[in-house]
Amino acid sequence: MLDEVARLLACPHCGGGLEPADRTLRCSANHAFDLAKQGYVSLLGGRGAPGPGDTAEMVAARADFLAAGHYAPIVEALADSAADVHTGGPLLDLGAGTGHYLAHVLERLPAEAGIALDVSKYASRRAAKGHPRASAVLADAWQALPVRDGVVGSVLNVFAPRNPAETHRVLRPGGHLVVVTPNSGHLAELVSALDLLSVDERKPQRLADQLAGHFEPVGSNVREFPLNLDVAEIATLVGMGPNAWHLAESLPARIAELPTPFPITASVTVSVHRRS
Ligand SMILES: C[S@@+](CC[C@H](N)C(=O)[O-])C[C@H]1O[C@@H](n2cnc3c(N)ncnc32)[C@H](O)[C@@H]1O
Repeated sequence: MLDEVARLLACPHCGGGLEPADRTLRCSANHAFDLAKQGYVSLLGGRGAPGPGDTAEMVAARADFLAAGHYAPIVEALADSAADVHTGGPLLDLGAGTGHYLAHVLERLPAEAGIALDVSKYASRRAAKGHPRASAVLADAWQALPVRDGVVGSVLNVFAPRNPAETHRVLRPGGHLVVVTPNSGHLAELVSALDLLSVDERKPQRLADQLAGHFEPVGSNVREFPLNLDVAEIATLVGMGPNAWHLAESLPARIAELPTPFPITASVTVSVHRRS
């Protein structure tokens, strides 16, 4: 973990700033947090994790799928939006998963460092190695974020839980939140062929309602593109998402029965919000 990133972090027990020493982060009240040998630090609060987050299998599937470049248009759209509005300061990716998106945004912003925050230790292990200027923190996005007040330049949030009040607190004045959300047509062909969980059509309104009072909308753009996937890649795509929990047993047989090629549409919105 980079020392400059460690000094952005806050103690999950008392909120005091953390200072790095050897492989430990410590606050002035002497609460100490060791770096895991895989390179991330656990800053889960007293209540612990709400659940384990993504499993090792889901994280491995996500890493494979993203490394193959299938979501490259989303990565590009996010990086374009983030680079356009970023006015300086470190980045925080909430629910960062493998750290793939944060790594690409950091490539566009060579002066910045980043924090990949996720509640899954499997995701944090990967994110710790995702980019030389990224550090990984195991924490719950729904509790107080273990980050000091007003130190973050931009927050990224891609298909992941949000915490508008805490995001507002950790951002510098004038900082931005850049969000990727799936549209109701996202993977629609797969959703209907396999009875997967569908995206709520009211999602854009729910996002606006959640952010109201903390953020002003700056703009948004829709990215829609075809995915050309073979059966194994479809299994990877399904395995990296929430359906992995819901339909695990029946899925492999049903995926094997899909016609090939099977056209699938990816459809997301990248939206930018300025800290009020
Ligand atoms: C759909 S994945 C998206 C990951 C990454 N943003 C991406 O698009 O590749 C959602 C991520 O949120 C994480 N997550 C779920 N609940 C969380 C929580 N309460 N706090 C932090 N992360 C959480 C999961 O472990 C998972 O890595």
